[in-house]
Formats: sequence, C-alpha cells, structure tokens
Amino acid sequence: MANALRLGHALECVDYRATTPLRAGQVDDTPFGGGAGMVLRVDVVEAALRARYGADPLELPARRRVIALTPGGRLLDDALATELAAEPALSLLCGRYEGFDERILEHLCTEQISIGRYVLAGGELAAMVVCDTVLRKLPGTLGHAESALEESFSEALAGGVEYPHYTRPADWRGHAVPEVLLSGHHERVRLWRLAQSRARGGGGGDALP
Ligand SMILES: C[S@@+](CC[C@H](N)C(=O)[O-])C[C@H]1O[C@@H](n2cnc3c(N)ncnc32)[C@H](O)[C@@H]1O
Repeated sequence: MANALRLGHALECVDYRATTPLRAGQVDDTPFGGGAGMVLRVDVVEAALRARYGADPLELPARRRVIALTPGGRLLDDALATELAAEPALSLLCGRYEGFDERILEHLCTEQISIGRYVLAGGELAAMVVCDTVLRKLPGTLGHAESALEESFSEALAGGVEYPHYTRPADWRGHAVPEVLLSGHHERVRLWRLAQSRARGGGGGDALP
C-alpha cells in the first residue's frame, strides 16, 4: 500500500456522515415493509458521491466502476482483481447493518462484489481486501515484480495453486527440503514446481511440456 502511494496512486476514504443531508449524522433508516435492521439511504450515498466527485452521481457509473461490496455480489477472484487493476480509478461503497437501499445498487453502482460467501458486519474489511489484492497488481508496488507473476491462480501456473516453498535450514528435525531444490538445476526445479502445482489440484499441468 505504501509503495502504491509513493508511486503516485491515491486512496481516499469518504465518510457518509460528513455529507449526509440528514440531521445528527444520520445515514440509514428503518426498512419499508418492516423487519429488523437499518438500511443505508440512497440520498445519503448520493450526497457523498456528489460531494466527492462534483457531478450528478447518476452519471458516475458511465465514467468509472462504482462497486458496492455485498455478500451476494460477483465473487472476487484473481481474474477479477486483474481486471480491476487495469482500471484508472475505482469507487468502493461499503454497507452496514442490513445493507444498501436497492436503488443505490440499481442506479448509483456498476456492479456488486463479494469477498466470499459469508456475512461481515460491514463492507470496510471487504473494501480493504479488494484494495490490497488490486494494489499489489499495479506495476512497481511489490518489492520483487516476479513475486506476483508465478503465484496461486496466475496465468504462469495456468490458474493452479502455487507449488511449495522452502528456506533454511535444509534439514529441520529430520524433515529435509526436497533434493531437487538444492540441486541448482533450474530446469529440473521449474518442472518439479509445475508438477507440484498440478498435484495440488490447480491447472499447472497446462504449463508442463
Ligand atoms: C451485515 S452485512 C448485510 C448483509 C445483507 N443483509 C445480506 O443478507 O446480504 C452489512 C454490509 O457488510 C458488507 N459485507 C458483508 N459481507 C460481505 C461480503 N462477504 N463481501 C462483501 N461485502 C460484505 C456489505 O457492504 C453489507 O452491506
């Protein structure tokens, strides 16, 4: 994250309460039709987006991806993270309590993203997960660019799970590192890693000769 900021990328948090048109910082309301919980109001999100972008929020989805974090949205995976990393800018909307008034999702957002099929108390952690996986894909953000090339779900491993890693000591309480990794034979190491990736249930086999 710090590397991304140093490179000129920007990350900004917006507090719905700072621009809410309602009194006493109110941002949500009881659901029509009854039931438990509070629902994030569409006029509150509209005001926050208008204040941040200086335009009619209804026009925003045509200009940038405005993403609502929801448990039932499109599941975040490596392909989606790569897709998002190619965007010049993103807006992520977080809900709380019962979540969003449906009109926010229909008219102010381009899509919904879920970080997993479970329910968090709020969208903030989900937004941070999206930011983390997207930012580390931006050129220059990782100390070693190669780290991101050959890792789980990457094209280099044909979408497979990554192979095992070992470091010193070469022998720990009788558990030795696989001999091939100590051989210094780059091609044997490469083939062993691809085979391990395939054995772990990924698609690494496609990359094998
Ligand atoms: C308690 S949840 C609302 C759950 C909603 N009533 C439902 O049943 O789908 C409150 C907020 O947390 C966020 N959230 C919870 N789980 C999430 C997940 N798995 N992925 C993305 N966002 C999530 C969303 O922003 C959501 O509006």
